[in-house]
Amino acid sequence: MRRLLVTGGAGFIGSNFVHHVIENTDDQVTVLDKLTYAGNRASIAGLPDDRVTFVKGDIADADLVDDVFGGVDAVVHYAAESHNDNSLNDPRPFLDTNIIGTYTLLEAARRHGTRFHHISTDEVYGDLELDDPERFTESTPYNPSSPYSSTKAGSDLLVRAWVRSFGVQATISNCSNNYGPYQHVEKFIPRQITNVLRGIRPKLYGAGENVRDWIHADDHSSAVLSILDHGVVGQTYLIGADGEMNNKNVVELILSLMGRRADDYDHVTDRTGHDLRYAIDSTKLRTELGWQPAYSDFTAGLAATIEWYRAHEGWWSPAKDATEAFYSSLGQ
Ligand code: NAD
Ligand code: TYD
Repeated sequence: MRRLLVTGGAGFIGSNFVHHVIENTDDQVTVLDKLTYAGNRASIAGLPDDRVTFVKGDIADADLVDDVFGGVDAVVHYAAESHNDNSLNDPRPFLDTNIIGTYTLLEAARRHGTRFHHISTDEVYGDLELDDPERFTESTPYNPSSPYSSTKAGSDLLVRAWVRSFGVQATISNCSNNYGPYQHVEKFIPRQITNVLRGIRPKLYGAGENVRDWIHADDHSSAVLSILDHGVVGQTYLIGADGEMNNKNVVELILSLMGRRADDYDHVTDRTGHDLRYAIDSTKLRTELGWQPAYSDFTAGLAATIEWYRAHEGWWSPAKDATEAFYSSLGQ
């Protein structure tokens, strides 16, 4: 039994991780989350009180961070500003949380000697051509495109420096695009599902040729646990489940799974600097740590995700109007 501190545990992937830990281990969890627009306590409601403790606060608050590190065996750091479109509109919170927040946690890990796992994204590597036979590996050079991905890249480099300069016991993982329950309606897949549920046509940026490499959030969680248990300090692991699909095909699949005509969507203004393709080679994680994804069928995982949103309108509905108002102000 370990005591884990999970930052951002009320967000999409962090809350899926908290559920995964409670279901699959004996560990205790303290969640530290600021509850920004993207955090939702309801995402971790109903979990046993004697195993999950919630602390509302900012990872950039050094005194609070110092307090919550007391007695903790390991930290899993999910908290971030996570949405590219928001980062193009207002980059500042991305610097505050992703850079200063990560720095604050690293300083605490250094003082307390706490094992630290940093959650990051494949977007730090920039993008690939559609016909590039190579995929991202742990040795691909960093080349981020957006304020979001550049601040995540900066946070990864801080972790590497704190390992080398100060001996912090840290690992890093860079994962591809996640889907599953509890994802904010600003993101691509839940936006389109909830649009259909609300009678709004799905919105595809540009021609929809951009490719993302989809992984179920629960597979991301199992990979993070195996890095926490068996990963080598100082190492980076890429997490992916061979789930490449272009956005047009994802929208068409959502529409057909929801009983609508596959061409019943709108093309809208493209994102500026829009990365073309992400693709992960997760050989290192699979061969060195023996990890395998459980969700091999994207269509089945997507169908289950659609059912989750259908059954949890009370969870997503309060955020839907403001999200769509923001997008329409951008012509998206
Ligand atoms: P999210 O936006 O759904 O959740 C982020 C959480 O962090 C929210 O609960 C929010 O309240 C909290 N938070 C934000 N700023 C904070 C602060 N200053 N102090 C404390 N808490 C704060 O994000 P997500 O999609 O769950 O992403 C989680 C992590 O996974 C991020 O680090 C992201 O870069 C990474 N990641 C995401 C994806 C993806 O597909 N969404 C893929 C790979 C990696
Ligand atoms: P998103 O979920 O924002 O993730 P990321 O930018 O981290 O990849 O977007 C996934 C893809 O979907 C990306 O290529 C942008 C595109 N997209 C749309 O086509 N329509 C939308 O409404 C949104 C939100 C995204």
